[in-house]
Amino acid sequence: MDLSRLVIASKNEHKIVEILDVLDSIGLDVELVRDADWPDVAETEATLEGNALLKARSVRAETGFAVIADDTGLEVDALDGAPGVRSARFSGAHATYEGNVDKLLDVMDGVANRSARFRTVMVLIDDNGTELVVEGVMNGSITNERRGNNGFGYDPVFLVGDRTFAEMPTAEKNAISHRAQALRALAGELAAN
Ligand code: IMP
Repeated sequence: MDLSRLVIASKNEHKIVEILDVLDSIGLDVELVRDADWPDVAETEATLEGNALLKARSVRAETGFAVIADDTGLEVDALDGAPGVRSARFSGAHATYEGNVDKLLDVMDGVANRSARFRTVMVLIDDNGTELVVEGVMNGSITNERRGNNGFGYDPVFLVGDRTFAEMPTAEKNAISHRAQALRALAGELAAN
């Protein structure tokens, strides 16, 4: 695997910071390209892997740099794995974090089985165009109400142990999160190649 200058195919600053934080902590020495730009990529595939590959290939084609792209879904057992690949648009086409969490709390009202997981599929395309696909999973459960102010997205209602992701300091979430686990899997693959 050949990696020098790398683009993170996301406009979500929370995600970029998390990814950089983990890359740094696992000692992966890459130069992040911050000024690259690309048109938004519609997440039209039916799977997390499909969307992550779509994003990675499109940003690679636009920028010519090595690329990391990810797609994450929240899978709730009582909802047969929903919202899953539709997590970003759970409450509609113009969904917000707020609206998505409201909808989740609403559909989970009175539901006893609250187990859920975040799943991240992460794709790396290196300088030579070689593709790597890895996955990270974080098990938890859905609270009955919002707790905490850190993080983003579904963090205030995703419980791990006795705290939600939004109640954990950022560094603590980043050490254990689905994205961190996917990045560690990526680092393991890179070390093996
Ligand atoms: P995407 O991978 O950016 O498309 O994320 C899909 C949806 O999951 C979005 O609504 C995000 O807000 C949410 N999401 C992704 N990662 C996290 C996370 O680490 N915590 C909470 N919500 C997340």
